Amino acid sequence: MDFNDLPAHVWPRTARREEDGVVTIGGVPLPDLAEEFGTPLFVVDEDDFRSRCRDMADAFGADNVHYASKAFLTRTIARWVDEEGLSLDVASQNELGIALAADFPAERITVHGNNKSVAFLQACVDNSVGAVVLDNATELEMLDLIAAKSGKTQRVLVRVKPGVEAHTHEMIATAHEDQKFGFSLASGSAKEAALAAQKAENLELIGLHCHVGSQVFNANGFKLAAERVLGLVGDLHDEIGASLFDTFTVLDLGGGYGIAYTADEAPLDVATVAADLITTVGKFAAELGQPTPTVMVEPGRAIAGPSTVTMYEVGMIKDVHVTDTQTRRYVAVDGGMSDNIRPALYQAKYDGRVVNRFVDGETTDTRIVGSHCESGDILIDNEQYPDDIEQGDLFALAATGAYCYAMSSRYNQFGRPAVVSVRGGRAKLMLRRETLDDILSLEG
Ligand SMILES: Cc1ncc(COP(=O)(O)O)c(C=O)c1O
Repeated sequence: MDFNDLPAHVWPRTARREEDGVVTIGGVPLPDLAEEFGTPLFVVDEDDFRSRCRDMADAFGADNVHYASKAFLTRTIARWVDEEGLSLDVASQNELGIALAADFPAERITVHGNNKSVAFLQACVDNSVGAVVLDNATELEMLDLIAAKSGKTQRVLVRVKPGVEAHTHEMIATAHEDQKFGFSLASGSAKEAALAAQKAENLELIGLHCHVGSQVFNANGFKLAAERVLGLVGDLHDEIGASLFDTFTVLDLGGGYGIAYTADEAPLDVATVAADLITTVGKFAAELGQPTPTVMVEPGRAIAGPSTVTMYEVGMIKDVHVTDTQTRRYVAVDGGMSDNIRPALYQAKYDGRVVNRFVDGETTDTRIVGSHCESGDILIDNEQYPDDIEQGDLFALAATGAYCYAMSSRYNQFGRPAVVSVRGGRAKLMLRRETLDDILSLEG
């Protein structure tokens, strides 16, 4: 591995290693950002984020792509998504609140959640969101009632457990039902829910939804799920007749499009997968004598993930005795599991590089660790790195735009890092760093 290289399929699209060894993103040198905003720092390449919105729009049609805002959401992000013509998926009342605060058109918002409160459902109806994805029977009744009291009709999708699990390269078709989201296809509860939603006075059933997993590289998982869900549409058609299709037009296949976190991974080719999926769904529907539904998707990671790097400053370095014949170099950076829980949570791997200069030392077994009081606070577990990495160097992890800030914590009372966006040689503060005063101000 060339440590000064930046694998183009992992790093943001505008990232460059300049002649002096400094890395720039959006034309802005990363050391300048560290100087101005401090570290750790999330740096979002606006052009990268927007271009991935456009890639998804080209593949599925802009109207059919709902950015899964759980990956990362601020008002700025909501505005970019809106400007690129995509819709938005939210999974909590505060995600909805942020989208609305950004003036995101409510009719282009889809709402998720397995335990939506009355207040959340009321907010959906009050704001006339595009669709609520129904997760359970209680919610169906509650939403019907709330819509009735408000004198409105709420459009809904029914979330189906298709009995397909797809994670990374594995695609497991199982009867796996033992998880909290959605209605079971196998037990018949999905059919019951769809019939109930279709009959409910104040709900309008516009389609079915399923989500097979995350970091999916085997697109057969999406196809198998689509086939199973369309089987249910066939059952509904038999029961209700052609009038089902007066309102029912959508097959929402969720998110999960895999991205490359390390140089040896290849991202899922969205354009090819989309074309194949849309053709396959059309074929299945035709075989079942149904109109072809609109295929909707909810990518989060594939839009936000590659756009962002997290930049840290290197602190303490120590060589640790592992066995009599092995030592390992521990390089500590000034963030860790509070800004990126993914390695600790599911052994996620990252591509990390020194970004303030060239490095060219002898390689040695190295572990990049954070600064938290937890031995599992490891960002890169075991990698060969040059031995000339020094205290004060800037070290950045690529592809940290999804589920890093969004899942951040304040463990050890670290304030959350700042987030800046970069574009055309300029940086803009998106979220400021949390300070001790912010933390103290929460106390009653
Ligand atoms: C229902 C639903 N849609 C979309 C997503 C987004 O997935 P990804 O970010 O992997 O594309 C998720 C992720 O958990 C999800 O649960």
